[in-house]
Amino acid sequence: MSAYLKNPAAWQESWDRQQEAFMPDREERFAAMLNAVAAVTDGDEPRLLDLAGGTGSISLRLLARFPRARVTVLDQDPVLLAMAESSLRDRGTVVDADLSDPGWRAKLPGEPFDAVLTATALHWLPPERVGALYAEVREVLRPGGVFANADHMEDEGLPGLSEKLRAHRDRVREARYATGAATSWPRWWELAGADEQLAAKAVERARIYPEKHHDFEWIPPATWHVEALRTAGFREAGILWRGGTDAAVAGLK
Ligand SMILES: C[S@@+](CC[C@H](N)C(=O)[O-])C[C@H]1O[C@@H](n2cnc3c(N)ncnc32)[C@H](O)[C@@H]1O
Repeated sequence: MSAYLKNPAAWQESWDRQQEAFMPDREERFAAMLNAVAAVTDGDEPRLLDLAGGTGSISLRLLARFPRARVTVLDQDPVLLAMAESSLRDRGTVVDADLSDPGWRAKLPGEPFDAVLTATALHWLPPERVGALYAEVREVLRPGGVFANADHMEDEGLPGLSEKLRAHRDRVREARYATGAATSWPRWWELAGADEQLAAKAVERARIYPEKHHDFEWIPPATWHVEALRTAGFREAGILWRGGTDAAVAGLK
């Protein structure tokens, strides 16, 4: 990249507030996932793949906890990747790749990873692709490495309560927007597009994600993901964290 953004920390902060408006317990799930990384590496220079990592939210938190970590952020959004690149500079690698194409692995640095973490992203992929991706992720992990995916994953036993939890979360989010505590998703993208350093990348992004792109969302329960991880060949698969309508599933290679 020719020039780093002037204010990546401010963009990261506003991204975090915008995302927390959807997931008030976002930091809790991140902490649970980082604990899993610590557990399989003793925190000793963990090598992390931050899959569909956007601005590098997970990588930045791992580096804050383990400054000698080696992180790779993979995503296809040029705006978010510019933010990741500017925040990480020489502390990590940024890879531009589309996870709907199995060829994404060829773009990675050669070494296997101790951990692959992803959050709030894979619900944009169709079911058959998520299952195949789990097997591909397993291949880039070293034996004993861990994968975790945090996303919306309801508990099938609680359909009524889940609906109420979602409605409650929506009310809290609207209140945050009304007071300016958080920026809405469309407003955040408007601000990014208006930034002189990001404007051209926002145009590029619009080609990758046409307006209706996010109308497709596939949100199976956590049990579906656990089964898919087992089918993908993970030695162990289960629920690492749960909070209301969301969960983080994990697989151990
Ligand atoms: C809501 S963001 C979450 C980013 C980050 N994990 C976080 O929690 O801050 C979802 C990310 O998934 C990425 N994504 C969605 N589909 C993708 C694909 N096919 N290939 C690569 N990245 C993808 C988007 O570009 C976006 O950065």
